[in-house]
Amino acid sequence: MKFNLRSLALVGAMMAVPSVFAADMSDAAIKERIKPIGSVHIAGAAAQTAGAGGARSGADIYNASCTACHSAGVLGAPKPNNAGDWEVRVAQGMDTLVSHAINGFNSMPPKGTCMDCSDDEIKAAIEHMIKDL
Ligand code: HEC
Repeated sequence: MKFNLRSLALVGAMMAVPSVFAADMSDAAIKERIKPIGSVHIAGAAAQTAGAGGARSGADIYNASCTACHSAGVLGAPKPNNAGDWEVRVAQGMDTLVSHAINGFNSMPPKGTCMDCSDDEIKAAIEHMIKDL
């Protein structure tokens, strides 16, 4: 390729590309990008601290371990405080609900995968899910 004005313009255009990315590396852009990671980390640390301090609340357990399936009804999971989803289940009695949640029930995994949850914490999470029925 002969070195002429056109190839010089091409080189110029290629050199301009990195400066576009550089503009995106501003302080504000970086802070914005790392923000969600930072907040997830802080939430995790708070949950651990709460665990060290004794029994966690039903809301804590629900938000950490149950919401992934139950908030959207994944695999047919009963949604929190949805009377239609819970009516027949609650009619079984609390003992059956707790036992199903601890031991697993069809697609409901044992302890909702919260292996370090005590039986009381599982029960509290269930009570949290049905408190506004
Ligand atoms: C992987 C998804 C998933 C997670 C995580 C999960 N569940 Fe479930 N859960 C289900 C599904 C699906 C059902 C419905 C099972 C059925 O009726 O066949 C269910 C049903 C239940 C029931 C009703 C049982 C019954 O006898 O009708 C309770 C209580 C329950 N879950 C509690 C919990 C608690 C407490 C947690 C968190 C500690 C949790 N679940 C986490 C999927 C999940």
